[in-house]
Amino acid sequence: MFQPVKKAIIPAAGLGTRVLPATKAIPKEMLPIVDKPAIQYFVEEAVEAGIEEILIITSRGKSTMEDHFDASPLLEQKLAAGGESKADALRAVQHASNLAKITYLRQKEQLGLGHAVLQAKEFVGDEPFLVLYGDDVILSPKGNPVCGQLIRAYQQTGRGCVAMKQVTPQQISRYCSLKVDPIQDNWYNVTDMVEKPSTPQQIFSLFSILGRCLLPAKIFDILQNTPPGAGGEIQLTDAMAVLARTEGVTGVDFVGHRYDMGNKFGILQANIDVGLTHPETADQLREYIQNLAKNL
Ligand code: UTP
Repeated sequence: MFQPVKKAIIPAAGLGTRVLPATKAIPKEMLPIVDKPAIQYFVEEAVEAGIEEILIITSRGKSTMEDHFDASPLLEQKLAAGGESKADALRAVQHASNLAKITYLRQKEQLGLGHAVLQAKEFVGDEPFLVLYGDDVILSPKGNPVCGQLIRAYQQTGRGCVAMKQVTPQQISRYCSLKVDPIQDNWYNVTDMVEKPSTPQQIFSLFSILGRCLLPAKIFDILQNTPPGAGGEIQLTDAMAVLARTEGVTGVDFVGHRYDMGNKFGILQANIDVGLTHPETADQLREYIQNLAKNL
């Protein structure tokens, strides 16, 4: 039996330059999808998969994330005084602060996703752990979070796992490309990977890692010896490539829809899709879009 997976880290220290000016004073992880900030979706997904401890990697100017998961006594008092009409809002506020045991650590310089993950070495210790990239909100059918899909693959194979999907030929040079062989159903053996392939020869396939991975603690030793790669950043993909080439990594073509919250269009898509299922907005939004579509 392999070690249980109880810890997750959420790297959320990036500058969010693709969503400026919105992210000048607000972390992109705090941008809402209808009525909840993106960061809450990550925490809820991890908790649904059985994660008990979460470390959020933050940076200067991002303390609103900590406020969001903290208790808010004054606000709670006001809402409680509002009686039945404010009961739902009170529950929502308290839910956010009771979700999980969350700690925070600052990445002082934004040297890349690999460098952000390296900050979690002490928090993780000797256990396998999940990484939820702070950009990628993934909505899956209830009861089947992507983190849980990775944990199931880890429990069978005992090695690193990545959540993957095929992207378009136009997108692949902005993502990573995976060398894959099918194992069974939606599981693949990943034997190599390259971050942001810059020539057609470097493209192994259109399969790319999207937003989640589950890693053994030995990744920290590899990261410590990983030089800056694409974009001059310490790339997590470069460290995972070492694992892929030596012991292999399991790729899970996951069930779920991923929204790139680091991108203006991704934010719009997430809001429309969630808005069309949210009980307080679904009917109005459907009618609004139907009317709008008549004139498009
Ligand atoms: P991105 O490169 O997409 O995030 O990193 P970014 O730097 O915020 O994006 P842009 O290009 O400037 O808009 C993927 C994830 O890794 C985190 C980011 O917060 C994001 O969730 N990250 C990236 C860090 O935590 N630290 C870093 O040094 C870099």
